[in-house]
Amino acid sequence: MNKAVRAAYLRPSPLGISVSGFAVICFLSGSPPPEFAQSVGNIDSTKSRDWVPGAIDHAQNMRLFKDADQGSQATPNIIPKLEVDCDASGNVATFQPGVATVTAHNAFFKNMGTNGRTCFTCHQPQDGWTISAASARARFDASGGKDPLFRLVDGASCPSADVSTPEAKRQAYSLLIDKGLIRIGITAGAAVLNTL
Ligand code: HEC
Repeated sequence: MNKAVRAAYLRPSPLGISVSGFAVICFLSGSPPPEFAQSVGNIDSTKSRDWVPGAIDHAQNMRLFKDADQGSQATPNIIPKLEVDCDASGNVATFQPGVATVTAHNAFFKNMGTNGRTCFTCHQPQDGWTISAASARARFDASGGKDPLFRLVDGASCPSADVSTPEAKRQAYSLLIDKGLIRIGITAGAAVLNTL
């Protein structure tokens, strides 16, 4: 996947309606095809992918930590061709050059695993298609921490954290709620381990 998820933060206009720049969401429009970004020659040879096996290994080990909560997040029927949302800094706009995306027909919005998450769990237009601490906090409060964003696999500061009470759960997900952080497991190389 290339750098397809983008959004533009726009200065608030006096009228609140003037929008001077837009994001283009290529993947929602269905092009380029998935294999495009993975073809040989399209990968930056200066970037190492040595971390990938360790990260996958780590994610698989996380299956030991079962979530009590199930369920999915609300998903709109369509992502309109142009969507403008407000946040504390102004307006966030998403523009797709084709037509509106019907979410029911797009893998990005499908639950492909077992924990209720979709790509849309973490990539939503009102947040510039990424995660913000403010929206994580709002979703925690609205769902009592049951929203699929809050899953032990990578949402909690530690996968074995105590989530048995609302207070414990808020503490367990504090990095996500306060900083908008998702945890990624990467094996430390020998050079790093030798310095510990
Ligand atoms: C648990 C949360 C989560 C889920 C679920 C998730 N992502 Fe992400 N994704 C992130 C985070 C965090 C980043 C890094 C910060 C960012 O760019 O938003 C990221 C980054 C990306 C990027 C790179 C964006 C860039 O600007 O370089 C792409 C592309 C992407 N994700 C696509 C997907 C797709 C496709 C799916 C579904 C198969 C998915 N993501 C599911 C959290 C998630």
